[in-house]
This record gives sequence, C-alpha cells and structure tokens, in this order.
Amino acid sequence: MRILVMGGTWFLGRHIAKSALREGWEVTTFNRGRSGRDVDGVEMVHGDRTSREDLERLAGHGPWDAVIDTSSSDFPPRDVLTAATALRPAAARWVHISTVSVYEGWPHQPLTDASPLLDCPADADESYGYTGEDGSPTQYGFQKAGGERAVAEAFGDAAVFLRPGVILGPGEYVGRLPWWLERAQRGGRILAPAPADRRIQPVDVRDVADFALTMAASDASGGYNVIHPDGISFRGLLEACLHETGGAGAPVWADPAVLIDQGVKQWTELPLWRTHAGVWAVDASRAVAAGLTCRPIVKTVRDTWRWWAADGRPVDHPRWADHGIAPEKEAKILASLG
Ligand SMILES: NC(=O)c1ccc[n+]([C@@H]2O[C@H](COP(=O)([O-])OP(=O)(O)OC[C@H]3O[C@@H](n4cnc5c(N)ncnc54)[C@H](OP(=O)(O)O)[C@@H]3O)[C@@H](O)[C@H]2O)c1
Repeated sequence: MRILVMGGTWFLGRHIAKSALREGWEVTTFNRGRSGRDVDGVEMVHGDRTSREDLERLAGHGPWDAVIDTSSSDFPPRDVLTAATALRPAAARWVHISTVSVYEGWPHQPLTDASPLLDCPADADESYGYTGEDGSPTQYGFQKAGGERAVAEAFGDAAVFLRPGVILGPGEYVGRLPWWLERAQRGGRILAPAPADRRIQPVDVRDVADFALTMAASDASGGYNVIHPDGISFRGLLEACLHETGGAGAPVWADPAVLIDQGVKQWTELPLWRTHAGVWAVDASRAVAAGLTCRPIVKTVRDTWRWWAADGRPVDHPRWADHGIAPEKEAKILASLG
C-alpha cells in the first residue's frame, strides 16, 4: 500500500504514519513543517494545503492507494474541496477524519452513522454555520459537515468519513487526559462529576490510526462512528489515573446541578464531563463490524502517563490552556460540599 497522510507530524496523523510504516506501507506526509518533526521513514513533502500550487506539486508525488486526511479541521469546506479535487487524479480513495460534531443531534440524542448531518455546502467559506448558546451545534460541526460533502463531491463512493468523539492517548495536545493525570498525581480531595458510574467513551489515538489504515485498504464508503464500544465509567477513569500516577487522592462526587450552579464549565474545566444525554450515546457498531478494535481505556491511561511523564510536557497548543479547573475554584467548591 502507498498512502498520503495530510498532516502526519502531530497527533493522529503522526500515529497513522508510524502505524503504516510498521505495516511496511510506503507513506508520504504533507504539512508545512511547523507542528512537529516528520516521522523517520516517510517521504515528506512540505507545503500549504490551501495553496493550489503546493497541492499540484504534491499530486506529482502520487499515485497513492489512499489519502488519509487528518489536517482539515482548521479549514473551510471550500479549501477541503480544492484539496480533494486537486488530489483526485493521484489517489484511489480518501479517508477523511471527521467528528461526531457533524450530527444535528449531537450531543442531545443517541446517534448512529445514519443520523442526520448538519447542513453545510461543499464550497462554504469559514463564515458558514454558527455555535448555539448551549454550545451545540457548533460552527466547527457545520464546517466539518461541509468538509465531508466536499470530499464526497470529489471522491464519491471512494470516500470514507471517520467520526470520532474524543481522541485520547500518547501525544494528546488538547489537555484532557493529561490534566486528569496531573490532578490525580497531586492527590487530596478531587472534585469529580457524579454519577460516578456514568460511562464515557473516548477512543485511543492508536486505535483510530489502525482503523484509518483498515479503511484505507478496504473498499468501504460512507460514515463510521469511531467511539470506544465499551467505554469506562468516570470512577474507573479516575481510579486508573490515581493508580498510574501513584497519587494519594480520592474523588469527591459532586452533583452536576451543583457544578453548574458553581459555574464549572462543561467539557473543559472538568475535562470529558458534559451532562447532555447523547454525548456518549453514539453507536459504533458499523465501525466495529468493519474492523475497529479498541484497547481497554485503562491502557490508554497508562500509556498516556508514561508518555507524559517521560517526554510529553509541555505541549505548546492554544487549546491546552482551556482545560482544567483552577485549584482555588476547585477548593472553594469542595469546601461548599463539606
Ligand atoms: N482530538 C480530538 O479529540 C478529535 C475528536 C474528533 C475529531 N478529531 C479530528 O481529528 C483530526 C486529527 O486531529 P489532530 O489533532 O491529530 O491533527 P490536527 O491538529 O488537526 O492537524 C495537524 C497537522 O496538520 C498539519 N497542517 C496544519 N495546517 C496545515 C496547512 N495549512 N497545510 C498543510 N498542513 C497543515 C500540521 O502540520 P504543520 O503545522 O507543520 O503544517 C499537522 O501535521 C482533525 O480533523 C480533528 O477534527 C479530533
């Protein structure tokens, strides 16, 4: 197999490139050379995915059996359309990394891969869409839905859309699991969102990478939800964080109404916590039937801590600063809980 990874130096794209090389595949990566080192063993092409000239130069390095696009998230559909159209003559298939945010019903309703998508044209610019007052839908979701449509326009049935919810694992730059790990290591009374048994379903970046390769080598088409089919309870996640870090602490489970009343921001101040009923009710059975296999989340916790403790920190990314609750705010809420 010969593949092109759009991106390939950062989080998911980096794992895809490494995994493909391990399989003995030939890998080309395309990025600007800013976000990280290229993986040893790839053919690297540097350029900007918004430049037609750079895309034409890139197409000259083909043909590929598949493109795997991990780098579309900051670009409007019309740029995705330009890239997919420019690369169509050089690639047999396109595996597009999308998100569950493309669904109209997320995070309110249970979803399958056939649930309705947000409506966004394939040639929309960055102004298209909006973010609702309660944080749903998001403009990001509209833009990613338009990106899917752009890829479908260029690649038709040779396009696959992988829709992860939350991706964790070694190299995570958003600051979700690393924050919980550091919080566990600090120990003491740890503010945690009740109910402790609520199941969350983040997926390991290495499992998304392997599934992207499976899809690249298949003749599959259409959308696949890439969600951990078993998940883990919040209690299980925090226990694993305490176990791995050796932190001497205990979660204090706070009622969501209390957290909301105290102004705790969902999704960011207590990472992975969001009260909406559908947030973790996404059906991944189509992906599982097509070959998605997910390691137990305790292994993701273990390997993220090993990476983080050895060479992970600090991560230089703007999203990092949004995650985690300030110690003073946490202490104040804990004191109010008695
Ligand atoms: N993280 C999550 O929890 C999550 C959840 C659901 C879906 N997703 C989706 O997963 C995908 C992968 O995310 P990721 O975090 O691994 O990667 P990413 O941060 O979206 O992409 C980074 C890669 O894109 C390259 N890049 C950025 N701008 C570029 C440009 N103008 N031209 C060429 N290359 C450019 C970067 O290299 P240079 O900067 O060097 O160019 C880097 O290699 C995204 O599409 C995201 O929407 C993520």
